[in-house]
Amino acid sequence: MKRAVCPGSFDPITYGHLDIIERASAHFDQVVVAVLENRTKASLFTVAERIEMIRETTSKFSNVIVDSWSGLLVDYCKTNSVQAIVKGLRAVTDFDYELQMAQVNLQSGIETMFMATAPAHSFLSSSLVKELAHYGGDVSSMVPTNVNAALKAQVARK
Ligand code: PNS
Repeated sequence: MKRAVCPGSFDPITYGHLDIIERASAHFDQVVVAVLENRTKASLFTVAERIEMIRETTSKFSNVIVDSWSGLLVDYCKTNSVQAIVKGLRAVTDFDYELQMAQVNLQSGIETMFMATAPAHSFLSSSLVKELAHYGGDVSSMVPTNVNAALKAQVARK
């Protein structure tokens, strides 16, 4: 079975992530959306909340499952028989960081495949969505309905 992982912090998942997940699912028998820790970012949602939002929005894809991992991505791949990491590239600004990670992960024998982000999503990031939502901006075109509701609830709580 050809299994790929779409890793990320997904804090929260956006339409940009979903586009990559859906397109990756057309090329592999199974795609695992794995919520991992990014030590350079503080998170708004708990891992359990992020997983729930991803499950709700990916349930329509029959070969997509959701998981989480608190160690190295390559260890997740080896433990779970994942052959490839699939990541979206939005712009050249993503490239240095993503190339560095791909090369480190390749040293452990795990390939990374990059997919070009659809132009409609090239400006989109979870950080941007959180910033807009924090100040009451409309993010309904950027995230699924359940995520929009969760963001509004978080903002109201603060
Ligand atoms: O959505 P993000 O925050 O860009 O995703 C980055 C993520 C979580 C995929 C990356 O930080 C990661 O792989 N974290 C797990 C630890 C790891 O394997 N780091 C890379 C090698 S040092």
